[in-house]
Amino acid sequence: MSEVKHGLEGVVAFETQIAEPDKEGGALRYRGVDIDDLVGRVPFENVWGLLVDGRFSPGLPPAEPFPLPVHSGDVRVDVQSALAMLAPAWGLQPLLDTTDDDARDQLARTAVMGLSFVAQSARGSGLPMVPEHEVDKAESVVERFMIRWRGDPDPRHVKAVDAYLTSAAEHGMNASTFTGRVVASTGADVAASLSAAVGAMSGPLHGGAPSRVLAMIEEIERTGDAAAYVKRMLDSGERLMGFGHRVYRAEDPRARTLRRVARELDAPRYEVAEAFEKAALAELAERKPDRVLATNVEFWAAIVLDFAEVPASMFTSMFTCARTAGWSAHILEQKKTGRLVRPSAMYAGPAPRTPDTVAGWQ
Ligand code: ACO
Repeated sequence: MSEVKHGLEGVVAFETQIAEPDKEGGALRYRGVDIDDLVGRVPFENVWGLLVDGRFSPGLPPAEPFPLPVHSGDVRVDVQSALAMLAPAWGLQPLLDTTDDDARDQLARTAVMGLSFVAQSARGSGLPMVPEHEVDKAESVVERFMIRWRGDPDPRHVKAVDAYLTSAAEHGMNASTFTGRVVASTGADVAASLSAAVGAMSGPLHGGAPSRVLAMIEEIERTGDAAAYVKRMLDSGERLMGFGHRVYRAEDPRARTLRRVARELDAPRYEVAEAFEKAALAELAERKPDRVLATNVEFWAAIVLDFAEVPASMFTSMFTCARTAGWSAHILEQKKTGRLVRPSAMYAGPAPRTPDTVAGWQ
């Protein structure tokens, strides 16, 4: 009898050349290049190129002028539905009927619209859209995104957002990437694959709850004593947000890189975050000596995004913008396999029976 692997833990379903976190060593490499060598040195669009094309290609083109079709009041819902709508609007064909080159170009066009839709949604329906000639003054995809959102962004905020997007661009076989690959494996179009991945990311167990770190930082700012706060939280059985990881048994490499970025940018909350981190690591090491509980990506991402004046309510959508890179690379890789993803389940329901034995039969 085959064994059920709940949550597919430990199941190796694909071979990939894109990335897989180095769990013990605490490193993350995109096609072999350490993210710490990319962040701050290679703009996000070229990192997109590295992930999708395997080289520093121009990667993402500028987003096309396309007004956000839905304003629901929830940025994630807006971007997910708008991405799906690109298929009929642009006449995108199923991946099954598309060449690899065309699929790659459609992914670039569609993925960059994710950033545009997030920017437009964040700007809100009350403000006029920023004219395209203003957006065209930008020198990078991230600058275009920030202009579309804010009109005239602080260049240091652009740097912070670019650093965040690169460090969160790809992370192996997580739930949203798996979802994108499954949809792509059915031969569906790229807009369906990407919008499905956005839906998978929206859950709190994946990308839906990163703002909780900031709430803890705010509490420490209020009380002024990180060590006492950490003890109090752990004594009452609470978890410290931004610490621990399902995969890494070392520091999350993205935390390391984003800590450096926060320091370089002189983020106003750097010091209080550092004090929180120091107190938390000391206390966790004492209380859980057998387990490595180190800082995870969400901790320093919160500080970097906060510095860029990204509201906590938008953190999940920023994660979406970043991960369009990894999703696109995986969707293309999946398409090239030509293989439908179709696992099995072990049936544990009722034995064969007739309809009249089922409750509700008239
Ligand atoms: N604070 C305090 N204790 C913790 C923490 C934490 N952040 N993380 C784990 N522990 C403790 C648990 O209480 C548990 O103790 P026990 O054995 O006495 O019950 C032990 O460490 C193991 O915990 P698990 O939940 O089994 O560890 P797992 O690896 O499954 O969890 C997770 C990983 C969910 C991220 C966890 O560390 C956590 O809840 N962290 C806080 C939330 C957070 O930062 N989430 C973002 C993760 S990053 C990302 O998803 C992109």
